[in-house]
Amino acid sequence: SKRVGILTAGGDSPGLNAAIRGFGKTAIGHYGMELIGFRDGITGLVEDRFVELDGAALSGILTVGGTILGTSRDKVHRWNVDGEVRDMVPTVVENYHRNGLDALIMLGGGGTAKNAMRLVDAGLNVITLPKTIDNDIARTDTTFGFATAMEIATEAIDRVHSTAHSHHRIILTEIMGHRAGWLTLGAGIAGGADVILLPEIPYTVDSIAATIKARTARGSTFSVIAVAEGARDVDDTADYQAAQLLVKAAKTPEAVRAAKAHLKHVEDAQREHTFTLARELEAATGLESRVTILGYVQRGGTPCAADRLLASRLGAAAADLVNRGEFGVMVASRNEGTEAVPLSEVAGKVKLVPPDHAWIAAARQVGTGLGD
Ligand code: F6P
Repeated sequence: SKRVGILTAGGDSPGLNAAIRGFGKTAIGHYGMELIGFRDGITGLVEDRFVELDGAALSGILTVGGTILGTSRDKVHRWNVDGEVRDMVPTVVENYHRNGLDALIMLGGGGTAKNAMRLVDAGLNVITLPKTIDNDIARTDTTFGFATAMEIATEAIDRVHSTAHSHHRIILTEIMGHRAGWLTLGAGIAGGADVILLPEIPYTVDSIAATIKARTARGSTFSVIAVAEGARDVDDTADYQAAQLLVKAAKTPEAVRAAKAHLKHVEDAQREHTFTLARELEAATGLESRVTILGYVQRGGTPCAADRLLASRLGAAAADLVNRGEFGVMVASRNEGTEAVPLSEVAGKVKLVPPDHAWIAAARQVGTGLGD
């Protein structure tokens, strides 16, 4: 029978356990395969730490948040040993064969797909599943974790409305999404935020203040702003993009190091941007302004029904692919069904909210300010 390894990599996301279970039940119960789970993502894959997963191990995990296997952000080709960076692909290939594996299933985002591709290039049979609350993975309609996080962020926006209207304040609710604004946009519309700020649309304080003043003129004494953690004003966006271009243009290893250090410096300087914006809006509007950062609350707890369903479907489809011997792909969600997408079309890519997306149009139509 076939023997398969599975791991979860990158930030935890609701639905990871539902996907492990969906894959495992299909692989073991339906196809008679054996399954092992590597601990802590790529770390366990490199260090060869795993557990045997049988029916009992998969029982009762559908509704559990986080990942029963543990996760990490380690990269297979950049492994730090005593300050020295090593490529661990050969070690992983060795572990894979020693454990008699026929396939490896990696649950993660665009970065995990990049790691997966290195293993595919080294001859391993790898399949990935699209996991992230950010919904920013290319070539899939959606990702598991997103729907749950959107529910949580929407409820948070609902709840901060109480304090905003009672105290006549501006409340900036910071929502995850360091590159893409899907979560902020979806929750912002669903929660009826007055202003929605996304990484894709650089804002100006003047535009946001004008929206708030127009509300005041209509008799509203408060405003709720949904702001993505990666949203920036026009000037900060220009600095950030210039720093990113320097990294891309760098030719020598020293130049790459220097450019990356500069990018990190720019990112660090901009990290508190939501607090800066709150101060600027207070000065511009005269309304008391406060910040609520949702943070890991958005990634925690039981997955909603939509994510359980999606993760189960994708997991089961991955087991079908292993059975058919189809590898080097991500199982994408496509309309009502699934589709196997080449990893090269997903690896390292980020799906941003396009400016002409229907959600952007809907936000504008209901009168939400987008800060531009
Ligand atoms: O999963 C992606 C994400 O939710 C981003 O939006 C956020 O920047 C990141 O995780 C933070 O995660 P961590 O603190 O685990 O690096």
